[in-house]
Amino acid sequence: MAANSGSLYGQFVGPLLAADGGADAEQLSQLTLTALAQASLRRRWPVVSGALNGLAAELQRTDPRLGQSLFGCRFANPVGLAAGFDKNAVAAGIWHCFGFGFAELGTVTWHGQPGNPKPRLFRLAAEQAALNRMGFNNGGAQEVRRILERQKLRPTGQRPAVLGINLGKSKITPLELAPDDYASSLELLAPLADYAVINVSSPNTPGLRELQEEVLLRRLVERLRRLPACPPLLVKIAPDLEDDAIDSIARMAYEEGLAGVIAVNTSLNRLGLEQRRLVQTGRTLAEEAGGLSGVPLRARALEVLRRLRATAGPALPLIGVGGINSAQAAWERISAGAALVQLYTGWIYQGPTLVPQILEGFSQQLDRHGLAHIGEAVGSGLPWRD
Ligand code: FNR
Repeated sequence: MAANSGSLYGQFVGPLLAADGGADAEQLSQLTLTALAQASLRRRWPVVSGALNGLAAELQRTDPRLGQSLFGCRFANPVGLAAGFDKNAVAAGIWHCFGFGFAELGTVTWHGQPGNPKPRLFRLAAEQAALNRMGFNNGGAQEVRRILERQKLRPTGQRPAVLGINLGKSKITPLELAPDDYASSLELLAPLADYAVINVSSPNTPGLRELQEEVLLRRLVERLRRLPACPPLLVKIAPDLEDDAIDSIARMAYEEGLAGVIAVNTSLNRLGLEQRRLVQTGRTLAEEAGGLSGVPLRARALEVLRRLRATAGPALPLIGVGGINSAQAAWERISAGAALVQLYTGWIYQGPTLVPQILEGFSQQLDRHGLAHIGEAVGSGLPWRD
């Protein structure tokens, strides 16, 4: 058998992910990131570049019909890595090798912070889901800038994968001072970001989600807009918002000329898994703090996306995320109005071959529906055709 990344993942990582217990979820992620960080720093060394080229040959799919220009960024394809995996941007230079058209780095806060006590990331293997209460553990904006600079990336606009930077509020900053906290991070990181995301939707920073309220969000957006160099700005929202709150964010985003809205972050709702117990703590999900991701989130994520599209119309770019673990689930999001999709939990469970699987699925659906370009599928309502 060829030792490609798909079969290696299936052989070695798959079994570790098949049960809730055993290998610690955060340690596995950390191990992977340490390796990826080294690979990104040394990606021009012959041995490393050979290995990365092999990875790219296996995982990248180039279909020009899947390329799009959105908010001034050129996306080679619509599939991205969601925020929270590469919090310190250590692998920024190599995400394209995994086939991604874009990667969202962060969440980065102004002050470096350790996050919540461990354990704080839990697998729910049978449901292809996860519960996390990481709490924005990251090195802080200054450290992340150094990490990015050390990787000697190409300038914004000239990279093989678009790189977004997702920003959050530092835990120690009071809510009233949130605009300055986000602005300090953005000012420092703007030169390195193709786009920036205002994350007001993590359930793991007390008070953060109050910033989704229209007046506070508008004030935050206006503060960031005043910076001398502000990249395209998107807002990432929670799945737990009421319909009228979704509508007011959609309208605000449109009126303020935001680059887009990302829907959704993890959920505080237990989505039918209230009585599910974590093997590590013996407590039920109803009793545990944290945000739920993965397959149980899919239906709600789709619903929120549909609502945004209905209110904001086709002019506001939307990024669909939450529970995507197959080409069909990704197509459904595009068809409902997402111009781009992002993966996290599904990518961990399915492994790196999920990206080419989705891209091939998209190309095939374009053929089957007689479409010339992915843009024609966005918001089309067209079903998946077997
Ligand atoms: C996340 N997510 C997340 N989002 C964000 O904006 N900033 C962050 O720092 C994190 N951190 C994070 C850590 C972990 C362990 C997980 C599982 C998720 C949320 C993520 O980007 C995404 O919005 C949700 O996970 C839903 O997508 P999936 O995972 O169902 O594909």
